[in-house]
Amino acid sequence: MKSIILYGSQYGSARRYAQALSTRTGIQAVSRKDAPPLSDMKILVYIGALYAGGVLGLSRTLRGLPSQNIQKLLIATVGLADPEIPQNRENIRNALQKQISPNLYAKAKIFHLRGAIDYRVLSWKHRTMMALMHRSLQNKPTEKWSEEDRALMETYSKQVDFVDLSSLQPIVNELKQEPDL
Ligand SMILES: Cc1cc2nc3c(=O)[nH]c(=O)nc-3n(C[C@H](O)[C@H](O)[C@H](O)COP(=O)(O)O)c2cc1C
Repeated sequence: MKSIILYGSQYGSARRYAQALSTRTGIQAVSRKDAPPLSDMKILVYIGALYAGGVLGLSRTLRGLPSQNIQKLLIATVGLADPEIPQNRENIRNALQKQISPNLYAKAKIFHLRGAIDYRVLSWKHRTMMALMHRSLQNKPTEKWSEEDRALMETYSKQVDFVDLSSLQPIVNELKQEPDL
């Protein structure tokens, strides 16, 4: 059965998850930048890092993809905010709905994974974005911070790695339900 794992990753944490999932399932993992034509894929897994609420590359990669051909669509987000907190999951899902067509969204099974950040290697653009957000949050009363704001402030300027490959297990289980894999 035609299947693929695509990843949208800037600094490597979404790629690490995608490669580990590939090892566990035997499905090839490919950067979204090198994605082959997807119209005849039956199983599509997209693992994408969160940047300012959006999943890196997701809209562009899935744009125009007819949902009826796909048998299984799994989307996993990778971000710093703790996905165990319901408010974070809700925010991510609300943003996701705006990034893909309603048909694809209805078909998708959504998972949330936790990522990593190392301020020493951030691009100038990303470092500036984080500095601006940090400054604006400093001017906001802490009780008004969302859980995502809190995650940003707690990790600001640090090197943290929350990548936990065991959190891939629900995705592995979902894929193992496919008899032809
Ligand atoms: C500019 C910027 C914006 C970010 N926005 C979010 C966000 O909205 N939500 C979140 O949970 N994490 C956010 N993050 C953290 C990244 O999602 C996290 O570092 C992720 O692991 C990066 O994945 P990658 O290493 O595959 O690029 C942001 C990081 C940067 C640098």
